[in-house]
Amino acid sequence: MTILVTGGAGFIGSNFVLDWLATGDEPVVTLDALTYAGNLANLSPLDGDARHKFVRGSIGDGALLGGLLRGHEVRAVVNFAAESHVDRSISGPAAFFETNVMGTLHLLEAVRAYVAGLDDAARASFRLLHVSTDEVYGTLAHDEAAFAETNPYKPNSPYAASKASSDHVVRAYRETFGLPVLVTNCSNNYGPLQFPEKLIPLVIHNALNGKALPVYGDGLQVRDWLYVGDHCAALRRVLEAGAPGETYNVGGDNQKTNIEVVRTICALLDARRPRADGLSYAGQITHVTDRPGHDRRYAIDARKLERELGWRPAQGFERGLAKTVDWYLGNEAWVANVTSGAYREWVARQYG
Ligand code: NAD
Ligand code: DAU
Repeated sequence: MTILVTGGAGFIGSNFVLDWLATGDEPVVTLDALTYAGNLANLSPLDGDARHKFVRGSIGDGALLGGLLRGHEVRAVVNFAAESHVDRSISGPAAFFETNVMGTLHLLEAVRAYVAGLDDAARASFRLLHVSTDEVYGTLAHDEAAFAETNPYKPNSPYAASKASSDHVVRAYRETFGLPVLVTNCSNNYGPLQFPEKLIPLVIHNALNGKALPVYGDGLQVRDWLYVGDHCAALRRVLEAGAPGETYNVGGDNQKTNIEVVRTICALLDARRPRADGLSYAGQITHVTDRPGHDRRYAIDARKLERELGWRPAQGFERGLAKTVDWYLGNEAWVANVTSGAYREWVARQYG
């Protein structure tokens, strides 16, 4: 038995692959296009591990996908492959629809053809888990109930619209072709190996480099932060026991304003690596122009996942954030690598 993980060199995907092989022995094939956000070094603990195979390629390549599915007799696919950064979707939306919508469509087509050729038992146990986001539900007022699986889709950014579209296509393949799909919609993740374009690693990186810590608008936007290891545990559980055709919300039950998160990071850095002048990193906080169409608040109601599959987040935020800051302090070479552009040159040399 083998699983295929698409987008497995990115932040959540690489955490998932590492967790998967740390908690079991079922082999993994990782397929990743290695865009700016994908980093093979994330998977370097698996170098030489016969249970893991890495393939560089796109979910848009149906022939490649078909070959991998058949060649490895794949019994499940977990799809993380996506363009994932909201700000990039505002400056250049097209790539998001190309990858997140058309890429997902090509993946579904390849899986449909593969599943059609399986025997009855293999077809019955096959699963495609599509990893999606809470942003498909839009935004919440400060006193509104958290997003449940029954909330209507109201995406506000091009990124969210592309993810919402992909969820709809996945759903249609279930309804029309009977594909055994599962969808998860998760809140903001944080933890090791997150590309420093996202708020938490960006703030750590900028703080240590004496740069401004950009807080959009008033900084009172709310996100529901989940430690990436908890997300991986939820995905393993959904793959194991989720009902085909179902959607599961995943969240940290942990709502924080952005300014609160940034101030907490500053305090953690003040204690661990004090500035030379003895002043707090909080002095570097700078309020900047708000993100267009910025969603005010996300909050996830994950009770279905708890009730039906027994999952709950295990990692508290204070400790999880401290672990994350410690990881970035201990892995400055990783950060330098992904921020210098050297990694992309290496990929070009390595893969031609
Ligand atoms: P990421 O940007 O760190 O990683 C995405 C990965 O996909 C990269 O390795 C990239 O190289 C790869 N990729 C891009 N286009 C590809 C293609 N055409 N074919 C194959 N691989 C391709 O993203 P992430 O934060 O790890 O998010 C992973 C998934 O989880 C995304 O689908 C995202 O929408 C979803 N999600 C993310 C969060 C979060 O807080 N980061 C929360 C909920 C859901
Ligand atoms: O909710 C899940 C989503 O969380 C995922 O689907 C996305 O892939 C992931 O990128 C994330 O989206 P956000 O837009 O919420 O994450 P980001 O880290 O970009 O921003 C978090 C909050 O911080 C958001 O309110 C915008 C704000 N922000 C972000 C950056 C990069 C700032 O104030 N300053 C910044 O420089």
